[in-house]
Amino acid sequence: MKNKQAPIGIFDSGIGGLTVAHAIRKILRNESLIYFGDTAHLPYGDKSEAAVQAYSIKIADVLLGRGCKIIVIACNSASSAAYELLKEYVGSRAKVVNVIDPMVSFVKEKFSETKIGLIGTKRTVQSNIYARKIEELVQGIELASLATPLLVPMIEEGFFNNKISSEIIDQYLSDELLQNIEGLILGCTHYPLVKNQIEKYYQGKVQVLDSSEITALYLKDRLIEFDILNDQETEPDDRFLVSDYTESFEASTKLFFNQRVHLEKYALWD
Ligand code: DGL
Repeated sequence: MKNKQAPIGIFDSGIGGLTVAHAIRKILRNESLIYFGDTAHLPYGDKSEAAVQAYSIKIADVLLGRGCKIIVIACNSASSAAYELLKEYVGSRAKVVNVIDPMVSFVKEKFSETKIGLIGTKRTVQSNIYARKIEELVQGIELASLATPLLVPMIEEGFFNNKISSEIIDQYLSDELLQNIEGLILGCTHYPLVKNQIEKYYQGKVQVLDSSEITALYLKDRLIEFDILNDQETEPDDRFLVSDYTESFEASTKLFFNQRVHLEKYALWD
């Protein structure tokens, strides 16, 4: 059994998972985080399932090597392509959680007999995983999913809260598929960075569902369930690893965590 003081491993293709890491930092104050941004292979959303699985396994090896007690797949594309495989691969060495199950449980609690929209990467939308999981758990929800592949590169380049991002977002959200919805799932962990703009588009008529806080609360419940919550007051020691150094990653990390962060470069393949 893992030590309660062991770190929590979190990964994504880039800065998107920082939205989840930030929510975890706020809710679980004693926990130390090791974040891996696979910037060398970004975006995951356009890659094959096999490629995303291979990246995820490599990253899991890094996080296990650093003694993580639990791995949070803070990426919808990797959650849809690699969660089952990763759980099997990691086995008893650590626990694994994804960002899709917490959102599906939230939808089950809050919605019934209605139409909900989802925007995500091509990988996530093509996997149909949200529709399958929602159908299994919740009766009467119609899910309309739209791939919005321009959003990740746009956000990674720092284009949010400006005219260009507004144009692109408005164009996607006005798609026929997404009309008459009661809620919109942000099915990509990069999208909370443009949540304000999405909310502005809907003017309060559609509930915009962001998985970062939902996942952090879900993670807390799992840590308690597995008896690995760090209940001792400790000063967290957060680490940030990237497979390729990018300025936007460093800038976003500082922005989120409100402090200077040391980025460690870690190549997944030599
Ligand atoms: N933030 C990720 C997701 O939730 C990855 C996006 C990408 O790399 O395409 O899907």
